[in-house]
Amino acid sequence: MNAALLLRPAAPADGAALAALDATGFVSDRWDADAWLSELDAPGRRVVLAEADGVVVAAIVTMVLGEVADLVRIVVHPAHRRGGLARRLVVEAAQAAQSAGAERMLLEVSSINDGAIAFYLDLGFTWIDLRPRYYRDDSDALILMRALEPSTAWSAS
Ligand SMILES: CC(C)(COP(=O)(O)OP(=O)(O)OC[C@H]1O[C@@H](n2cnc3c(N)ncnc32)[C@H](O)[C@@H]1OP(=O)(O)O)[C@@H](O)C(=O)NCCC(=O)NCCS
Repeated sequence: MNAALLLRPAAPADGAALAALDATGFVSDRWDADAWLSELDAPGRRVVLAEADGVVVAAIVTMVLGEVADLVRIVVHPAHRRGGLARRLVVEAAQAAQSAGAERMLLEVSSINDGAIAFYLDLGFTWIDLRPRYYRDDSDALILMRALEPSTAWSAS
């Protein structure tokens, strides 16, 4: 399935499609088209999406400021999950962040988002801190980190 996917930078014309995709992945903290489009021009941001037959099926937002990269958002349409697409997006973004000078990647994930936590742990992120009741649904934010040394391999699955 993933062989037919095209990865490309997001553009202003993608706002509505990104908002529709976002609604398939988030409940209490959805981003509308304006929220996605505001990322395109924000400092240090990189927004990459995956298209299948012209339909936006996944997207990732990362930010590099100095030696720290942040994984700001990632979402994969439910019909395209568990095929390695999110892994592909994170690895590609991490390699770009490394090239831009980042030495580690940080992210926040809700403590009740079991699927995403499993995904990040599988990619080698480790839990380093917690922000209590960070999200609108009152769940805590787990702060995860992964080093971006060139020698650190991403798991192969
Ligand atoms: C989290 C998310 C991005 C993962 O996307 P994905 O394309 O399905 O992930 P991958 O196929 O690359 O998964 C790679 C590995 O991560 C782990 N993993 C991914 N999703 C998982 C889940 N729901 N439960 C347990 N493990 C999971 C598995 O080890 C998987 O490998 P496997 O399928 O061979 O077992 C996707 O579920 C999603 O969009 N969720 C809604 C939005 C969201 O929560 N984003 C993160 C917010 S911080």
